[in-house]
Amino acid sequence: MARLENDVAIVTGSARGIGAAYAKALAAEGAKVVVADILDPGSTVEEIKAADGTAISIVCDVTDNAAIDAMISQTVSEFGKIDALVNNAALFAEISHKKFEDIPDGEWARVMQVNIEGVWRVSKAVVPHMRVRQYGKIVNVASTTALKGTPMMLHYVSSKGAILAMTKAMAREVGEDNICVNAIAPGLVVSDGLVEGGNWSDEWFDNNTNSRAIKRRAMPEDMVGTIVFLSSREANFITGQTMVVDGGSIPH
Ligand SMILES: NC(=O)c1ccc[n+]([C@@H]2O[C@H](COP(=O)([O-])OP(=O)(O)OC[C@H]3O[C@@H](n4cnc5c(N)ncnc54)[C@H](O)[C@@H]3O)[C@@H](O)[C@H]2O)c1
Repeated sequence: MARLENDVAIVTGSARGIGAAYAKALAAEGAKVVVADILDPGSTVEEIKAADGTAISIVCDVTDNAAIDAMISQTVSEFGKIDALVNNAALFAEISHKKFEDIPDGEWARVMQVNIEGVWRVSKAVVPHMRVRQYGKIVNVASTTALKGTPMMLHYVSSKGAILAMTKAMAREVGEDNICVNAIAPGLVVSDGLVEGGNWSDEWFDNNTNSRAIKRRAMPEDMVGTIVFLSSREANFITGQTMVVDGGSIPH
């Protein structure tokens, strides 16, 4: 039996990049997947269906309560329940590197709104559906930048630091309801958005590679095993934790 057979999983920010890889991996393990994004997630759903998986696409801005409520309603009406939520949506690839004193007010605010508030908003909409069944898995996507203190993207790094803290505190609030809340902290990954957006350099990738025990660039597929594990019953007694997936750059 597949590891997520009969489960229902929502993955935010899964139209492209690492989120799309998460959605495909969860579907390959038997989950019915809601592929949600502010962009059209149709192509990810087509790929899942072509591999005999089950998925629906929902356009949803994680900062918009009405859109979140509509996504939850559609999920429950089509699939009947919610077992897992992967809070992957974030502003990352489109952020250009700059000194902290040069970050415009509006850009700082939007990063906090999407990367922190978005996780809070979607989680609080999903938890009642998990609580009623006394089962659920929430996996938040943090980043090793928050552990390393990566310079030139202070708003992003601060937002991912908040995710590390939020994961611990949220886990304590929902543990009695048998809901686990964990985080993955990926190192630098070659993702669609990063490559297409151009906010990267060989030097940045090479510095990351050289800092690792496993000296190569990370691909989205390197992240998916952790997401599947933390979304599954194999992780039933793990909560409030952050798993670093970075080829051994940070022994955490
Ligand atoms: N690529 C990396 O090196 C890396 C490293 C560590 C952590 N991460 C994290 O992994 C996740 C995915 O990263 P990625 O590289 O694929 O980034 P990305 O920017 O390409 O993807 C993020 C996805 O979120 C979506 N999104 C943005 N705003 C949204 C909103 N308001 N509502 C719904 N969806 C929204 C985007 O459309 C996109 O599909 C992010 O949380 C990122 O912070 C990435």
